[in-house]
Amino acid sequence: MRLQDARKDYYRNLAHEQGFRSRAAYKLKELNQSYRLIGPGFYVLDLGCAPGGWTQMAVKLAGNKGKVMGIDLSFVEEIPGAHIIRSNIEDESIIDDILEYFGRKVNAVICDLSPQVTGNWSVDHAKQISLNYDCAKIMDKVLLQKGNAVFKIFDGEYSMEFRDFIKKKFVRVNLTKPPASRKQSSELYCVCLGYKG
Ligand SMILES: C[S@@+](CC[C@H](N)C(=O)[O-])C[C@H]1O[C@@H](n2cnc3c(N)ncnc32)[C@H](O)[C@@H]1O
Repeated sequence: MRLQDARKDYYRNLAHEQGFRSRAAYKLKELNQSYRLIGPGFYVLDLGCAPGGWTQMAVKLAGNKGKVMGIDLSFVEEIPGAHIIRSNIEDESIIDDILEYFGRKVNAVICDLSPQVTGNWSVDHAKQISLNYDCAKIMDKVLLQKGNAVFKIFDGEYSMEFRDFIKKKFVRVNLTKPPASRKQSSELYCVCLGYKG
């Protein structure tokens, strides 16, 4: 077995054993170990949350004083400790639903969005980055000052433009790839700390 396949199986088995719906949960866990995006008591908004691995991990990290909301186009089975809504993040009217649920601004916005891929890399990359700009619009309305965010990025032509755009809004921004993310996948994570408002 190649090392890469072994690692893939490792995270899949771990997710199965520990009751997480996706191996992606470990990407968030590893990002959090390095950057402390989410702490106990945090209010967390998860954009593009299906099937729910990140939402489950966010519930765990935020603890019982925290609050977590997940949004996705697809149906997501109930997750204890989280509020899930089925909606399109391109529709700005969800901002009212978000603020109504939390009752205040949030401490972290986590975005792991992937569009339905067409197989044409330039098209998929452009759409994925465009979804991130939609997330940033929501983030600007709901994130507390000094809050944190993370965006998945399909790496390509517009990645640096998005990184530079988001960099102006935070004290610290890092592009990184956690070990749980497959080496051959072109995804990166843009970790953003200390929202300037
Ligand atoms: C890679 S999955 C997220 C995995 C998730 N973080 C987990 O740990 O289970 C990407 C998600 O983005 C969602 N998505 C893509 N475009 C969207 C949109 N416009 N509005 C809401 N969700 C969207 C997809 O439906 C898909 O479920």
